[in-house]
Amino acid sequence: MKPVESLTESEAISELARLADEIASHDLRYHQSDAPIISDGDYDQLKRLNSAIEARFPHLIRDNSPSLRVGAALSEQFAPVEHGVPMLSLDNAFSDEEAGEFDARIRRFLKLDDVSLAYTAEPKIDGLSASLRYEKGLLVRGATRGDGRVGEDVTANLMTLSEIPRRLSGSGWPDVIEVRGEVYLGHAGFAALNAAAAEAGEKLYANPRNAAAGSLRQIDSAITARRPLRFFAYAWGEVSAPFATSQWEALEALKTWGFQTTPEACRVEGVEGLLQAYARLERQRPDLGYDIDGLVYKVDRLDWQQRLGFVSRAPRWGIARKFPAEQARTVLEAIDFQVGRTGAVTPVGRLRAVTVGGVSVTNATLHNADEIARKDLRIGDAVIVQRAGDVIPQIVGVVLEARTPDLVPFEFPNLCPCPLATPLTRETTGSGAETVVRRCTGELACPFQKVEHLKHFVSRRAFDIEGLGEKQLQGFFDDGLIREPADIFTLAARDQVSLKKLKDRDRSGETSVANLLAAIESRRRIALDRFIYGLGIRHIGEQTALVLARGYGSVSAFLAAMDRVAGQDPEAVSELDALDQIGEAVISAAAGFFAEDHNRGMVQRLVEQLTVEDVAAPKSDTAVAGKTVVFTGALARMTRDEAKAQAEALGAKVASSVSRKTDLVVAGPGAGSKLKVATDLGLEVISEDDWLALVGQG
Ligand code: IVH
Repeated sequence: MKPVESLTESEAISELARLADEIASHDLRYHQSDAPIISDGDYDQLKRLNSAIEARFPHLIRDNSPSLRVGAALSEQFAPVEHGVPMLSLDNAFSDEEAGEFDARIRRFLKLDDVSLAYTAEPKIDGLSASLRYEKGLLVRGATRGDGRVGEDVTANLMTLSEIPRRLSGSGWPDVIEVRGEVYLGHAGFAALNAAAAEAGEKLYANPRNAAAGSLRQIDSAITARRPLRFFAYAWGEVSAPFATSQWEALEALKTWGFQTTPEACRVEGVEGLLQAYARLERQRPDLGYDIDGLVYKVDRLDWQQRLGFVSRAPRWGIARKFPAEQARTVLEAIDFQVGRTGAVTPVGRLRAVTVGGVSVTNATLHNADEIARKDLRIGDAVIVQRAGDVIPQIVGVVLEARTPDLVPFEFPNLCPCPLATPLTRETTGSGAETVVRRCTGELACPFQKVEHLKHFVSRRAFDIEGLGEKQLQGFFDDGLIREPADIFTLAARDQVSLKKLKDRDRSGETSVANLLAAIESRRRIALDRFIYGLGIRHIGEQTALVLARGYGSVSAFLAAMDRVAGQDPEAVSELDALDQIGEAVISAAAGFFAEDHNRGMVQRLVEQLTVEDVAAPKSDTAVAGKTVVFTGALARMTRDEAKAQAEALGAKVASSVSRKTDLVVAGPGAGSKLKVATDLGLEVISEDDWLALVGQG
């Protein structure tokens, strides 16, 4: 991309739009699915780029700018809780200089030129923050941070943590106090959790932070209770009366009330103190037993904190001093390939095992062929790997001095690594430019893609077959028991007549086989949109599947139309094109898919096993048809999913954030930032009862 200084206004507009989308999608992965795909460092870079462009073009700041948000939108599983005092975040400092600037800024602000200031320096625990509301010493509510203003009510789950007191001990606590801190998993707890998941064939958590977040946001608190979650207290929100005059005193008080505080926290003076605390903690880091990603410096005196206040979303009195990403040197021993569901071939670097930040690393993502060429990675090279709270470690570069003359440039294969060795193609974009993706053209004939396809088919948002995790599916595939979706539904019948019973495979056992077969049976009846999504056709995600389902109504109409689209019947193509949000990419993907005999056969055999339920077309003659609606806050008479389905069935579009394009906002109790934006924009805001009356169900 061009440097920010030379962007034109129209380039800035499109760049800001792109960044808003990209950052929002990472936020969603991080906060709701607890499964990030980029490193914190790369994420910070995206945010910095966004801020730099906004600083140059302040009039282009978008309503949904990532710089105006602290966290992600809320999941709909938990009731919203508005925080008495917002839960904000901290700005970052990445060097000694930036720590020095922090101190200088504060002294300037407080006009304390020659005095050295006292700070606390506390480990920055890498977990997720929570707010615990105590009234008269009793824990009454616990919430996640959410977007900073409104979090999620996870009281029942937080109450299962042994380090969160249900009743405060000691004395001197205010009548009302929101204690804030970090929910986290120690290294031992994390290892045990992943070992159990591996044993059960479930997906592993990438790191302790994701595991902690996933564990806290369980719908069933009995599951949370079994996870070894821990809690460190370090701050507070709403209080009915002051209880300390300094951060240090406050930490002491929190301890006497029964909380754990980080033993490494210390009180220091001046910049030297800040730097020493950093150096000390960096040394202690490997032995702490839990992940930290830096330190938090806080002005100790609370009256000064008060005077310093906040700048937009972060306090002036505190800063996060981050550790640099951790790196180590090792050897690139091989490059393997993974084939995704849609045939994209991704190279993976196999490394000589090396410990980076306390974790043994053996694989690194290499992204694509261009990335390997750009870094000129050669098998046998000494490489620097980096891990920054990452899902998969990255190769930063080659140690060229160590390269021996026998190492040859890497040649990306032209054939799929599967036994069929189908040729790989290099994809072109709409404008004809080549993309970096290499794809196997074997589609469902390619065994690698077949397995990925099956994984998609059983995934939660598709057929959602419980007990058929990745490992089990791979096992069934390797044993030849499940080669295509229809096989899943004939498994029980085949087992009846088989000599080698499922219950005798591995250590499956009767109960688990019975559970699996019951889970499969319960999915024999499936809504048309899920069915379409489950087919895993490129470019047909959940939303598009729903549009198609509504457009065609029944599985027979859908399949008949697709046959005609595959045959390039102009009438059928234009009918498909006329559906809302359907464009060239979907049309050619659908045509390509249904033009293949083996795909049609696969779908036919699957349909024979299922009862696919019709989906009603949205109405066009209702009070809300064609309108864009946002639901926010708590709903009393229906769930969010119900509200959404109802609105969509009546022809409305349901959006997750409020903008000028919103026609109607339905706000319940606890509505926070979205309601504020709606009022600021002068949008129509109604209650849940008004909504039900409007749609004729009041
Ligand atoms: S104090 C106004 N202290 O870091 C924010 N935060 O980037 C006051 N964190 O959301 C937060 N350890 O999740 C504070 N010792 C500590 C912390 C800490 C970890 C997290 C917390 C917060 C984020 C801010």
